[in-house]
Amino acid sequence: MLKISENVYWDGIQDWDLKLFHGHELSTHRGSTYNSYVIKDEKTVLVDTVWFPHKETFINRIESDVGIDNIDMVIIQHNEPDHGGALDAIMELRPDLPIYCTAFGEKIIRAHFHKDWNFVNVKTGDTLKIGKNTLTFVEMRMIHWPDSMMTYLNHDKVLLSNDAFGQHYCAKSMFNDEVDEDELYQEAIKYYANILTPFSPIIAKKINEVVALNLDIDMIAPSHGVIWRENPSQIIESYADWANDYSEDFAIIVYDTMYEATRKMAEAIESGMRSKGVKVKLYNSSVSDMSDLLTELFKAKAVAVGSCTVNNGALTSIVALTHEIMAHKLKGKPYLAFGSYGWSGEAPANIDETLSKTKMIKVSEPLKAKYSPVESELKECFDAGVKLAEAIKES
Ligand code: FEO
Repeated sequence: MLKISENVYWDGIQDWDLKLFHGHELSTHRGSTYNSYVIKDEKTVLVDTVWFPHKETFINRIESDVGIDNIDMVIIQHNEPDHGGALDAIMELRPDLPIYCTAFGEKIIRAHFHKDWNFVNVKTGDTLKIGKNTLTFVEMRMIHWPDSMMTYLNHDKVLLSNDAFGQHYCAKSMFNDEVDEDELYQEAIKYYANILTPFSPIIAKKINEVVALNLDIDMIAPSHGVIWRENPSQIIESYADWANDYSEDFAIIVYDTMYEATRKMAEAIESGMRSKGVKVKLYNSSVSDMSDLLTELFKAKAVAVGSCTVNNGALTSIVALTHEIMAHKLKGKPYLAFGSYGWSGEAPANIDETLSKTKMIKVSEPLKAKYSPVESELKECFDAGVKLAEAIKES
């Protein structure tokens, strides 16, 4: 058990081995942590649990560190199984415990466990005095589930933020000032890009709402990764940036290719963009990690996506990628589609059609080249790259 403030202890799990999360959807190269917290005030409060594969370790640890009989109440801020997954093991031993959660939280817990436990619903602004600390609950609906909420402790000045401000990052320390800052930010933005981007408009509003609460915050303790102890407002400021049409100083070209023709088109587009002084990253999606790619797409100022045509459509990795771009609601970035073909040639139009469902900005009709692109087709790609570069400056 790690003391993080006068009355708050971290008693979670560091999962160094986790390499894939959300089933196999999300890569977690640096593992993750499931942060359960114990508040030892006049009342003893357990806040969130851990992912169910770690249930036994967790229960044994809580028993030896706290004593399950000593717990007065449980707060479940979010019921995805990586946080609520060990709740049943606690409740089996202490079926009398009140569970503080949002109304949505209760519905989800009931649907997961099918038990009639002692639920206490809370909403934004509700408070609970537990001794020196008064807890204030703040709903975080759709950041990123309907049940999500945060809990603020006024005496310790700790904000237990659940998934918000988290990272899938298992490190040598649980505190931000004792880990590699570059690694931490890589994981924080990857987390945002992959999990939270679809909810950016809600997050932008919620950040303003939380700032307006004027909470005196010494520490932000999320449910994954390290605790923001040094300058905790930095991650709030980063979220405010990320939620508001964030981009970095580069463009991205992602393609898949069977016989290098589409790669040649990608490189011609790249040359066109570089001729206008734009920095470009080039990825073959079939050999790239999808979660990392999505992070790069989130950061890029402009996007070109290409695939040759096979079986009347794009290659599998590009179909998946364009779906992810659409599902993550990327917006405001100029884009174009391209690809080589032999006879039918639907891939560029299919890519374009999917991307047109986003709020990104189309700058060119889809570019096509038959079999191996000739000089004039590569020139068209170069010119489209120039146009894409110019669109960045206009956007
Ligand atoms: Fe970390 Fe949404 O669970």
